[in-house]
Parts: sequence; structure tokens; C-alpha cells
Amino acid sequence: MKKKWWHEKVAYQIYPKSFCDSNGDGIGDIQGIISKLDYLKDLGVDIIWLSPIYCSPLADQGYDISDYYNIDPRFGTMEDMDQLLAEAKKRDMKILMDLVVNHCSDEHEWFQKAMEDPDGKYGKYFYIEESKDGKLPTNWRSYFGGPVWEKIPGTDKYYLHLFHKKQPDLNWENPELREEVYKMINWWLDKGLGGFRIDAIINIKKALPFRDYPADREDGLSRPQTMLADAHGVGVFLGEMRDRTFKKYDAFTAGEVFNEKPEELPDFIGDDGYFSTMFDFNETIWGMSDKGWYDQPRITPDDYKRCCFETQRKIGEVGFISNIIENHDEPRGVSRYLPDGECFDTSKKMLATMNFMLKGLPFIYQGQELGMENIKFNSIDDIDDISSKDEYQVALDAGCSTEEAMKAVSMFSRDNARTPFQWDDSENAGFTTGTPWLKVNPNHTTINLKAEQADENSVFHYYKKLIALRKDPEYKDVVVYGELIPFLEDRHNLMAYYRKTDEKTLLVIGNYQTAEQDVTLPSSVKNLLINNYPDVKINGNILTLQNYQALVLEIE
Ligand code: GLC
Ligand code: CA
Repeated sequence: MKKKWWHEKVAYQIYPKSFCDSNGDGIGDIQGIISKLDYLKDLGVDIIWLSPIYCSPLADQGYDISDYYNIDPRFGTMEDMDQLLAEAKKRDMKILMDLVVNHCSDEHEWFQKAMEDPDGKYGKYFYIEESKDGKLPTNWRSYFGGPVWEKIPGTDKYYLHLFHKKQPDLNWENPELREEVYKMINWWLDKGLGGFRIDAIINIKKALPFRDYPADREDGLSRPQTMLADAHGVGVFLGEMRDRTFKKYDAFTAGEVFNEKPEELPDFIGDDGYFSTMFDFNETIWGMSDKGWYDQPRITPDDYKRCCFETQRKIGEVGFISNIIENHDEPRGVSRYLPDGECFDTSKKMLATMNFMLKGLPFIYQGQELGMENIKFNSIDDIDDISSKDEYQVALDAGCSTEEAMKAVSMFSRDNARTPFQWDDSENAGFTTGTPWLKVNPNHTTINLKAEQADENSVFHYYKKLIALRKDPEYKDVVVYGELIPFLEDRHNLMAYYRKTDEKTLLVIGNYQTAEQDVTLPSSVKNLLINNYPDVKINGNILTLQNYQALVLEIE
């Protein structure tokens, strides 16, 4: 694996709508982000990924773009964006935008023109098909529920949308469309953008010609993943995109890749891969059920550990994975990966340690550094997210009570992560002076940046220590490049691993339970680098780990 400038960095995801509102309209914006750059710099962040801020009707919160070359007025102007790029540069930080090119918005000019003339030039930018003997062209289900085909009024034709019907899929088989995409990417890179997080990219290759797959639910439809497993050759598009765009700029790219074929991994993130890195979703997809969220079990500590190690083994020396505990599509990591009733500062720090010390690039999602938690939704009306609404209906249709359906949605809703950032304990958590677009979590009276900055034992200060260790000249090499070797892998509710180079060995060890447990240390301790407790209990070579204690030790 060749060393790259970004390997030793720390990345941070901003969900602009919920980060900081500068003008009191209840929606976070670019000026809000600019006002917090010093905060992020001080935290130790080098790379910032912004979820989409392009013009959009916000049917899927900006993942439905109606103009790739402009900023949505709710988020600001292109001048604001230029200012953000300049201010980030001054601080030696890179800005990534979200590249959403599997689909655009139905309000994009291309789609509008395609609707006027489905057989014309722009019709070929999309997938438009006739119905087959009165039936839809295929029986594929969209990610957000219902069939992927939407009728074009006044015709017998349908357009394809793997996501919402306001997100028509772009036809990557059409070279003209691909040219448009590359032109747009280069336009942004010319402006000084550091690179992109690349949305839903595996979906750009469809299994063609169109055909049905076996139905997997009562609705007679087949999940999109089944079709994707049968689609070959996405690499041809991805390689072309890399060569025509990112490569020339040495841009940093992080792919949102699900369902890649194992043998393709080196092509994706090897030395000359399609992307610099991609996210590890092995923990997030654990237990996922074909039936829906209501059928998805809670992950246990042992399963969580297994998922992390599985990814580490799979990646090995092939490339550099990006590690997360949450993002804007997932519930809060501390609410998900810590057992019910066991989510408190010490356990949050334990989870942070386990995740942050894995080999790869850490991506912090806004508020994670405060230990922000899931919110309690009282009813489905509290929820804005389209996928949660669909899953609620799926649960009801399957015979769940409204309480059961709400329970499933509350656990997994994407809105858990989308509640406003908790800056302080004031009415709207310091996020806005107006009415926030999505309810602020009532726990902001205790979980907020201001309070945590004042408390040196806070989750926030703990994250700062983890980041500082990654950047410490003495330990940087082992934290970034050290081989990861599991330790006592089969021990119940213990997550532990070595990070090892020729010079140094670290032992990262976490007690993933409230009860104490003893561990026999493999060798003597040279330095205690991280501890989420004021003390450490070592007797001879026996280490007694306290309730959710986590340690990073340098050992002989
Ligand atoms: C990605 C995004 C998600 C969005 C979807 C469709 O998974 O992260 O928020 O809904 O793609 O663009
Ligand atoms: Ca605003």
C-alpha cells in the first residue's frame, strides 16, 4: 500500500441543514459552517465532508439535485461557498462535497426536458421504458418502498428511480450523460474543492436488459440488491470517472459502496483504485432483514466486534477503509452499539476508543464528539425522513401494532442523526434563533458543546485526546499504519486488538459490559496512552477492567 497524504488525517461529516443556522430561518447554512471552522480546527479535523447543499427541492434532503452548479438559497450562495473554500484553505483544511450522480431531481432541467420529449436527447439521460403487456418493465422495489417505475403522464412509458420517485436514475450507459457528469466534477475541482464523498455509487450499473427477479415480499417485488448482484461492469464507469476527473487533481474521494463484489476490492480502493477510500458498513448492515426494520434485531457487543474484525481482515493491506459509528443515514452509534440502559459517558468513550483506533481513516459525524444520542419520537408525525415513513408502513402492513412500528422506526430512523447540533443548553441548543426545521433533542440541556468544553472529563475532551494521539509524532506511525491483530478474540464482551509496527506495539482494550473482567496482559506495560477512567487496576500481569473501561497501552 502506497502512503498517501490523507492517511493520517481525521475527517468530519457535516449535515449542513442541522449544523449551525446563521440567519434564524431554522435551517443550517454555509455561513453557519464558516463560523464553526475554528471549532473544528481546534478539535483536530482536517477533512470536512458536506452533505449536499446544491439546489434541490429537498425531497430526500438534498440527495435530489436540481442544479449541480449552484448552491440552494436555503444554504447560501456561491459566494458563501467560495468563502468557505478560502477559509478552509487558510486553516489547512479540505472541503469535500457530496457527489450524487446515480440520480438527479425530477426538477432538474434534464429531466424536465426528458418529460417533454421522452424519445429525444434528454430521454436518453434516464431509463425510460414502455410497459410490458400492461405490466411494469420490471418488478424491482425501490429503496424507499414501492416499485422503481413511475408512469410518465399521457404516455405508456415509465421512468426508473431506485430511490424516491423524485430521484430519477441517470443513464450511465449513455456516454453523453457521462461527459456531463465529468465536466461538472472537474468544474468543482477547478474551484479548489478537495474531493468528494460519492453517493450510492454502486447503483449506477444496472443489470440489463431489464428483467424480473424472484419476489421477496408479499408485494411481489424484488429488492434492488438482488438486481445489483446480477449487474456486472460497474468498474468500467468508475475507472473512466477516476481517469477523467479525480486523478488529474489528486482529489480525495470516499465512496459510499455497498454490495461490492469481494474480488473487486483492490479495484475500488487499491493503490490506483477508483476511490481513495470507502466506508465500512459491515456493522450498519448487520442483522438487516429482507422484511424491513421491524424484523431487524439489536446488535450485541460480540457481533459488533466480529463485524469490525471481519472488515479489517478483508481489507488487510489492500487499501485504507474509512471507519464510522454513524452518519446521516443511521441512528446515533452510541444508541445503537451500546446495549439498552448502558449508554453513558464511560461507555461512549469505550466505543469511541474501539472505533477510533481501528486501522483506517476515522470519520466523525457531527455531534458524535459530544456523545449525541437518538431522540425519542412520540409519533410518526415527528419524523421527516422518507425512508422512516416507508419502514413504518412496511411494519404496519406486516401486522405490527403502531407501538411496535414506532419502536422499530425509533431505533433505526435516519432522523436520529439529523436533529440539530447541540451547541449549548439554551432553548434551541444554540443551533438557531428561529424555529429549528427538526426538533432539537431535549437532552441538549446536559449533552452540549459548551458544557463539555468546560468539563475536562467530557466525551468531547476524550475525542480530542484520541485525535491528539493519532497526530502525536511519536505514535502517529503505529496508529495510522500499524497492523491490526485481534487479541482474545473469542472472549465474551471484550473487544481488544494490537496495533503493531516493527518499532512499537499498542494494545487497545475495551470492557464491553458493566461487570468487571480480568485479562492477563501479554507483556509488560510501557505507557498508558488513553484511559476513560482516572485509574487503572493492574496486579502483576492481571489487568482488572472496570465498568466499560477502555485503555490504549503501549506494551513491550
Ligand atoms: C445515500 C445517501 C442517502 C440518500 C441516498 C439516495 O445512501 O447517503 O441519504 O437518501 O443515497 O441519494
Ligand atoms: Ca439559515
